[in-house]
Amino acid sequence: MALLEVSDLTVVFRRRGEAPFTAVDGVSFAVEPGQTVGLVGESGCGKSVTSLAIMGLLPRRGATVMGSVRFEGTELLSLSPRQMRDRRGRDLGMVFQDPLSSLNPVVSIGLQVTEVLERHRGMPRRQAMVEAADLLDKVGIPDPRRRLDEYPHQLSGGMRQRALIAMALACRPRLLIADEPTTALDVTIQAQILALLAELVRDTGTALIMITHDLGVVAGLCDEVNVLYAGRVVERAERHELFRRPRHPYTHGLLASIPRLDAPRGERLVPIQGSVADNIPWDHGCAFAPRCPRALEACVEITPHMGEEGGRLLRCHNPVQENQEVPA
Ligand SMILES: Nc1ncnc2c1ncn2[C@@H]1O[C@H](COP(=O)(O)OP(=O)(O)OP(=O)(O)O)[C@@H](O)[C@H]1O
Ligand SMILES: [Mg+2]
Repeated sequence: MALLEVSDLTVVFRRRGEAPFTAVDGVSFAVEPGQTVGLVGESGCGKSVTSLAIMGLLPRRGATVMGSVRFEGTELLSLSPRQMRDRRGRDLGMVFQDPLSSLNPVVSIGLQVTEVLERHRGMPRRQAMVEAADLLDKVGIPDPRRRLDEYPHQLSGGMRQRALIAMALACRPRLLIADEPTTALDVTIQAQILALLAELVRDTGTALIMITHDLGVVAGLCDEVNVLYAGRVVERAERHELFRRPRHPYTHGLLASIPRLDAPRGERLVPIQGSVADNIPWDHGCAFAPRCPRALEACVEITPHMGEEGGRLLRCHNPVQENQEVPA
């Protein structure tokens, strides 16, 4: 049994006077202990909403969550807010997209970490302080004892992100969701944080859901990658498979827009044309069709279903064929 099993997860936002908006549309995936699963896609495709739904952190009013999220067989979607809070302390950890808004600006870093340790692991204050310094050290914050007394604004962006990871680790979660943990950081720190997460998964068997718009980030980290478009998974494959042979034209486009170190200097990246504003609704056809270089007539008329082929899932009428190279 998977540690986490997300089935047909759907999130609909309703605002008065506006048409309901389906931000997540029947997303399914599973995560095993010690496994890293990537959720990848452009801005607005539903990555954060998926993770907030799993964590039970969407607003109760205005958001309807359907489908199933099972953690070791327990249905999380039917737990009470209080039970869910316990779960978040004990089993589920999250590193949020924006470190500044998820740290309390008027409480020292030390107190924020020790609070987690006291509340969720029942540590006495003194022991929690020692453990907190140890955690900051582990995430590569230099001079951790001094940093414990500092406030979030006194830390650099990279340090704040590390502090958040330290807080997430303080709970010893069995599942960690990292939502764009490195987007705001420079490449050196980005690499360090990714290495830290990889180490965590390897050493503790924590399951990791890695959320990013950057396929380059998942390249070195994820075992399996789910590519999301307009709230739906359009392709899922084992990492090497996906990189070697992307089948969905959208995945293909994402891969082509990764800067390559070996590319001739001055070569321009090939971003995917258009934007999500060009989407057509999924119930009319393929949402990506208006931007798709491989679109056929069927693509704007018939909704593509998810098909399976050799362990890969694919939602496409006209996938990229085996012998077609990814444009370099
Ligand atoms: N509370 C909310 N109420 C209404 N709509 C929302 C709410 N939260 C998110 N959305 C919408 O749901 C869609 C998916 O948002 P989400 O934050 O999951 O995107 P994302 O994939 O995380 O993008 P990014 O890469 O920019 O973080 C967006 O169109 C967003 O505007
Ligand atoms: Mg997001």
